[in-house]
Amino acid sequence: MSKQEVILCRNFGNDLINAIKKCPHDRLFVLTDENTHKHCLLNEKNIFPKGEIFQEIIIGADDVNKTLETLASVWQALSQQGASRHSLLINLGGGMVTDLGGFAASTFKRGISYINIPTTLLSMVDASVGGKTGINFNGLKNEIGVFSPASSVLIETAFLQTLDTQNILSGFAEMLKHGLISTQAHLDELLAFDIEHIDYEALKQMVGRSVAVKERIVEEDPKEHGIRKALNLGHTIGHAFESLALAEGRPILHGYAVAWGLVCELYLSYIKVGFPKELMRTVIQFIKENYGTFSFTCKQYEQLYELMTHDKKNSNGIINFTLLKDVGDICLNQTADKDTLFEVFDFFRECMGE
Ligand code: GLY
Repeated sequence: MSKQEVILCRNFGNDLINAIKKCPHDRLFVLTDENTHKHCLLNEKNIFPKGEIFQEIIIGADDVNKTLETLASVWQALSQQGASRHSLLINLGGGMVTDLGGFAASTFKRGISYINIPTTLLSMVDASVGGKTGINFNGLKNEIGVFSPASSVLIETAFLQTLDTQNILSGFAEMLKHGLISTQAHLDELLAFDIEHIDYEALKQMVGRSVAVKERIVEEDPKEHGIRKALNLGHTIGHAFESLALAEGRPILHGYAVAWGLVCELYLSYIKVGFPKELMRTVIQFIKENYGTFSFTCKQYEQLYELMTHDKKNSNGIINFTLLKDVGDICLNQTADKDTLFEVFDFFRECMGE
């Protein structure tokens, strides 16, 4: 898999010109959703270099539109508007736009180049980097897709100033995960960050360090045969919370599910591989203060367990966890039996209780 260039923008206009120059093209297309069309493309009139002619394709916002139908509408628009194998697609949006747009580009005429411009914290530090593209299918998240990196990813943190606190927190959970799998200094910096009074310059620097953690791992293992599984920390139980909440008609943001999944998987790390108890308590306290809790009862333990057994990271029906012995000391391919997982749920409800 070719390496993608991740650029922490100093001068967005120039960085974009350079990224576009790297991809000689006949036609330029820009994929937005209803929100980024309005708030990023229209409001920031100078977002594209003067004289750069492009055709815009707008899709519906949010995960409900990450479907085969939307994908087909993007292929259709590219086809009708004369896209060729030498055209270039720029995805301007959150994870839904960069995942779906990346997949559309990677499959149109067997693959055209694309550039990601993530506009949410979650997509800056996670979705837009690392070449995972795809759509939801058959009720399953990201069920269909390919590994195919963007030519460039432009990280312009000015977009973050329009995000609400919930969406900042959602992305911040993935940053916490990057802290936990890298160094104590990185984690400490994150735990000291005041999310209620955001210093955007400090956040920009932290985003750069966070993306670097992901880039390093993806470079080593682009197709998730080994160390890339470290990025799944917090996600095995987090995805089960996310699916349960969705099934019950009370959807939660992905990063909140990850934060609550981290609480569970740090406790599992403590009981199974000896993660330090005090540090576990510190991280859990930070999550409790900033994210609140997720409510469920012991009657839902079986359902959560069932959801975990369907995770696409499993093989032979065995639930696969990434755990930590300590910060940056990663244990891949760990398992836990049902009784242990029920103990983890008890712990979560006890220590996160409303
Ligand atoms: N979101 C985890 C990964 O990109 O591998």
